[in-house]
Amino acid sequence: MLDLPQVVADAPALDEAQVTDRCQVIGGDMLASVPADADAYLIKRVLMDWGNNDATALLRNCAAAMAKEGKVIVVEMLMPAGNDPSQAKPFDILMLLNQSGRIRTEAEFRELFAAAGLRLTRIIPTASPNSILEGIRA
Ligand SMILES: C[S@@+](CC[C@H](N)C(=O)[O-])C[C@H]1O[C@@H](n2cnc3c(N)ncnc32)[C@H](O)[C@@H]1O
Repeated sequence: MLDLPQVVADAPALDEAQVTDRCQVIGGDMLASVPADADAYLIKRVLMDWGNNDATALLRNCAAAMAKEGKVIVVEMLMPAGNDPSQAKPFDILMLLNQSGRIRTEAEFRELFAAAGLRLTRIIPTASPNSILEGIRA
């Protein structure tokens, strides 16, 4: 698990969940680099916080660091096409107000992955508002 050093300096929730023997907690800056040689990089509700430049930087770091057959797995809301009501829309405004984030359409994710040297290979809807997007090196 990677988060900023000041965030992981004290991670009581993980201790309470009794999972620290099954994971390594790493302090770092994902926009600079991510741990090397992982089979999968799970990025859940993180890209939505960031504009395209930073989101691409994170995905590019994963693409550069991953094992040969590695994958990037993004768990996030997708902005649906059309004008029907969707939970994604107020979140899009919230992300815009918060930083330069956004909720992305499938086409926008395809472009983002491609800009990072990745190919979006699968999108799996879930019962939650989130979808699972899978990417491999292009
Ligand atoms: C929206 S939260 C993640 C939510 C969580 N994955 C979930 O699904 O509940 C975004 C996280 O990114 C971390 N973060 C922000 N900037 C970062 C950076 N440059 N490097 C690593 N982690 C960062 C924040 O500290 C925060 O924990």
